[in-house]
Amino acid sequence: MEKENKLSRRRFLAQAGGVAVGALAISSGLSFITEDVSANGEEVQAEWPWPYEQLDPEEIRKLGHLGYYQGACCYGAFTAIMNSLKEKVGGPYKTFPVDIMRYGEGGIVGWTTACGALNGAAAAITLIAGEDGYKGIVNQLMGWYTQFPFPSDQSNEYASKHAFLVDKYKSDEVLVQSVADSPLCHVSVTRWCEESGYASGASERSERCARLTGDVAAKAVELLNEYKSTGKIITAFTPNETTESCRTCHFKGDNYDAGQFTRGKMDCEPCHGDPHS
Ligand code: HEC
Ligand code: HEC
Repeated sequence: MEKENKLSRRRFLAQAGGVAVGALAISSGLSFITEDVSANGEEVQAEWPWPYEQLDPEEIRKLGHLGYYQGACCYGAFTAIMNSLKEKVGGPYKTFPVDIMRYGEGGIVGWTTACGALNGAAAAITLIAGEDGYKGIVNQLMGWYTQFPFPSDQSNEYASKHAFLVDKYKSDEVLVQSVADSPLCHVSVTRWCEESGYASGASERSERCARLTGDVAAKAVELLNEYKSTGKIITAFTPNETTESCRTCHFKGDNYDAGQFTRGKMDCEPCHGDPHS
């Protein structure tokens, strides 16, 4: 009986094809459990977290940059990791519909909310690190991003020496670096434009985001490598002192009157100053 069920499910999945399998897994509440029936009938089951093998951050930096050219920031960071694991691990990675991440471009189709590179990297981290690991790693990545001067020296060097994987560069200049102080695409892009003097539609700005995408994907893989090799939970990022002081009252809590009608970990000051002083 059980076997019959499995067989008919297999047949259905084989007919439904790869993309539909992902959709089915999500719609049937099986989140992150997919059944991959490959052409030769081999069945691969993956439960959350998905299998991982150590990746080379420098290779990932280059793939992230290339992925940006192919499908923008979110897609770039995500596919750098997922396509590498497709080659190294295979299994469930072989049928994952990576095009799902195209929406993340420009902080979700140009709305400039969360930086797409962060969004894409966080999705891959979540799949790989699982229940115990993903929040700490994503927290670290978010916090690191807010303080890091993008694009990295490493990425600037790859571009100027034509060591990335693209044939034709949007720009091969060594680009000005800026710290976003925020995980938002809006703030990140705007601060860089102000720092560099380039407009948001300039190919240099696009190139800056391509390098940033590589940088974020590389950092994500460094954190994943560390977590997977040591098994040590990566602790959550601590916001800066001012923000922490605001969060003593303004946190996700039950006491509305004491200030818990809001929540968040972003740096409060750039948007609010200190409204209480
Ligand atoms: C001791 C607790 C406490 C701390 C610390 C605190 N707040 Fe508040 N905050 C409140 C409460 C309670 C309210 C609602 C009542 C009011 O407006 O005073 C409020 C209101 C606000 C408001 C809306 C009202 C306004 O005046 O504009 C903003 C914005 C705000 N806080 C931001 C911040 C920021 C940013 C920080 C850190 C720099 C901070 N708060 C620190 C308790 C706190
Ligand atoms: C990217 C900008 C931004 C950041 C960063 C940000 N906020 Fe806000 N916040 C807003 C906006 C916009 C509103 C809505 C303001 C309004 O309704 O007048 C808001 C609303 C609030 C309110 C309610 C204001 C009111 O008038 O009642 C509080 C309190 C608040 N934020 C606290 C914080 C704290 C604490 C942090 C840091 C942990 C923070 N915010 C980070 C933009 C931001």
